[in-house]
Amino acid sequence: MLLARRRGALLTAVLAAILAGAGHIVSPAVASAAAPRYEAETAPATCDGLIESNHDGYSGTGFCNGDNEVGAAAQFTVSATEEGTATLAIRYANGSTTARPAAVMVNGVTVLSTSFEPTGGWNSWTTKTSAVRLNPGSNTIRLSPTSAGGLPNVDYLDVEAGTSPEPPGRPPQCSGGAPIVCHFDVAPGNYTVTAWIGDGAAAGNTSMSVEARRRVLPAVDTAAGTIIQHTFTINVRQPEGQPTGQGGTGRPGLDITFAGKAPQLSGLTVQAATDPLVVYLAGDSTTCDQMLAPWTGWGQILPTHVTAGAAIANYGDSGESSGSFLRNSALFPTMKPLIRRGDLVLIQFGHNDKSTSAPAFRSNLTTMINQVRERGGSPVLVTPPVRRHFDGNRLTPTARHVNGVGADLPAETHRVGSQLNVPVIDLTAKSKELVESLGPNASARLYLREEEDGYKDNTHFSEYGAGRMADLVVEGVREHNLSLVSYLQPRRVP
Ligand code: GCU
Ligand code: CA
Repeated sequence: MLLARRRGALLTAVLAAILAGAGHIVSPAVASAAAPRYEAETAPATCDGLIESNHDGYSGTGFCNGDNEVGAAAQFTVSATEEGTATLAIRYANGSTTARPAAVMVNGVTVLSTSFEPTGGWNSWTTKTSAVRLNPGSNTIRLSPTSAGGLPNVDYLDVEAGTSPEPPGRPPQCSGGAPIVCHFDVAPGNYTVTAWIGDGAAAGNTSMSVEARRRVLPAVDTAAGTIIQHTFTINVRQPEGQPTGQGGTGRPGLDITFAGKAPQLSGLTVQAATDPLVVYLAGDSTTCDQMLAPWTGWGQILPTHVTAGAAIANYGDSGESSGSFLRNSALFPTMKPLIRRGDLVLIQFGHNDKSTSAPAFRSNLTTMINQVRERGGSPVLVTPPVRRHFDGNRLTPTARHVNGVGADLPAETHRVGSQLNVPVIDLTAKSKELVESLGPNASARLYLREEEDGYKDNTHFSEYGAGRMADLVVEGVREHNLSLVSYLQPRRVP
């Protein structure tokens, strides 16, 4: 169960303190009263659930109470006088304590993902706005939930068509063309970052990353005249990569890079985030935010899976074992006091516990779990991803983290998990299956290769491999139905 502090998380962030030096900041555009209103209870609108009126404050004669399941949609049919950008303002109430993410589909195509944060009660309604592109004439707008909670209660949709919500323009903190590089002079913490990607006149292909090569948006194409708003919650730390500063400490503040074949940015705002769900990562070089290419930790790609309202705070650090992570003051002792009630802490060790005995390994994991719980956090164990050491077509025991003193570290992790009732994401098993199914040759691509990367390594991942590991971690997050599930991007269509 999530707690009260999550309530109203993101929308109230609009009112949050505007940061010194953040410059160009706007509130989300709100469609004017004159915008045509489409009530969710009025045909041709459809509701995969029931039209109800048992909570006060709705407009018209009721609202759509969608079924609590993936895909239980509310759909509106709206008309536009001309082709162009329009502002959608969706009025909803979410009296639950978790956000309800959804895909916004225009004429059958998913154009953006959004998340309906808790409003504090079923009688408390609020409005979520986003910009989409409409065709002249009739258009369908479908809100399709992507998590088991379904949609919030949906009251109506206002569409301000023909007039585009003016993107705020590129702020003075940004410079350059390809890539576009932006720097915001903010203190460590969590920030809501909204980027208007695309351009009024030119086509674009734009990706977005932050801080130490943390990917948040894979390259997206935008047609000329299309500008799509993307919002993320970003954790800012100093050093910005590995907490012990290996590979470089980066620049204090928030750095954002827009790359891709033709980066297009029409606006960027940064605001303090209110009560995000923070997912802490405790791990080693296979997890961490690597400053230097080609090394890439899976925690660096994980943010591409996460919607606004949740932030990934990666405390992974190269060379750390379960014991050194606990002892080093830059690591567990720095991370622990930041953990808040309801936050998740993913704990992955093994690579550097080459000579740790089974009892010592269990004791280190137990200490971390107990201390995370002391803070009200929810620990999650992650078994270490395999190394690429084959014996024929099978991975060797060393590859599977049976260590130098005979301790089977993934098995020990499972043992601690069942003793302490902690969910275990079995990344060892998942990555073993992936690496063995690719086989001794094709699996090389997951790791660093001499020809491609100038460095051969069967432990550390290429950016591609880190992405595959992040996919497996997300699969585990879904299997255990961790609270992060409410903040996952819609599944990518393969
Ligand atoms: C409660 C509430 C409904 C709401 C539902 C939900 O039952 O009364 O209006 O739709 O929760 O969680 O979706
Ligand atoms: Ca419902």
